[in-house]
Amino acid sequence: MTNTYVITGGTRGIGRGISLELLAKGHKVFALYARNTDEANKLIELAKNFPGQLICLRGDLTKEDNLEQILQQILNSAGAIQGLIHCAASGVHRPVDQLKTKHLRWTFETNVFSFHELLLGLLPILTKNSKVIGLTSAGSDRYLQQYAAVGSSKGALNSLFRHYAVELAPRDIGVSLICPGMVETDAISSFPNREERVNGARSLTPSGRLTSVEDVAQFVSYILSVEHNQFTGQTFYLDGGKSLLA
Ligand SMILES: NC(=O)c1ccc[n+]([C@@H]2O[C@H](COP(=O)([O-])OP(=O)(O)OC[C@H]3O[C@@H](n4cnc5c(N)ncnc54)[C@H](OP(=O)(O)O)[C@@H]3O)[C@@H](O)[C@H]2O)c1
Repeated sequence: MTNTYVITGGTRGIGRGISLELLAKGHKVFALYARNTDEANKLIELAKNFPGQLICLRGDLTKEDNLEQILQQILNSAGAIQGLIHCAASGVHRPVDQLKTKHLRWTFETNVFSFHELLLGLLPILTKNSKVIGLTSAGSDRYLQQYAAVGSSKGALNSLFRHYAVELAPRDIGVSLICPGMVETDAISSFPNREERVNGARSLTPSGRLTSVEDVAQFVSYILSVEHNQFTGQTFYLDGGKSLLA
């Protein structure tokens, strides 16, 4: 069966991997991104070899007019969607004494508020047995260096998703979060002490390796394929066992 999915941040990193996994299974994917058209164009080229249909939509989701335009494009061309996956994220990495309220606001705008707006706009076309999946991180409930802005936004996302899970369950919409261990994407290259943190994460992971984009993409694809939503409200840790130790 061919389904239609919307993926924020669907052209780079983990979101790109999820787009490719779903395209390989023949699904239709709306991949949303903010500004990196080069990466979107590369994905469009690659997608020509896949059975599914890819539609890349550019727009900064924190901007009301961009979000409205993207919503209209999806609503006009998709009668129904079976899943919404929130990968887009951004944030300011600073120690707390250099973190201004405007940095927090900006981070929350992308990671939390814009997604909520998108969900509200797409709720009318989310079908029965559809899924809403968010990407959270270990820093949502523990300390990570210079991660106060992103970590607190992910903590807010976790709470928001718990409320979505309960209140959307009667509509048969399953809500879940994926919490990957460190995945080597562009986002990681902006971390302070990147090398040290990557090596540290690997050495603390019982499976002996970092989580890959493909690990996450396969798992998301699996959740989307489940024919019920009894797992709603769960957070799935894809971290090779790291969260059990540290
Ligand atoms: N990488 C990790 O180790 C890791 C670990 C745990 C959780 N996660 C979570 O997994 C998700 C994906 O992470 P990633 O590493 O794949 O990220 P990434 O490579 O940095 O990609 C981020 C994507 O979000 C899009 N985006 C950012 N701001 C946007 C905005 N205002 N409007 C629309 N799109 C916007 C970007 O668009 P452009 O391409 O146009 O910039 C890009 O496609 C995030 O939620 C992240 O917090 C990642």
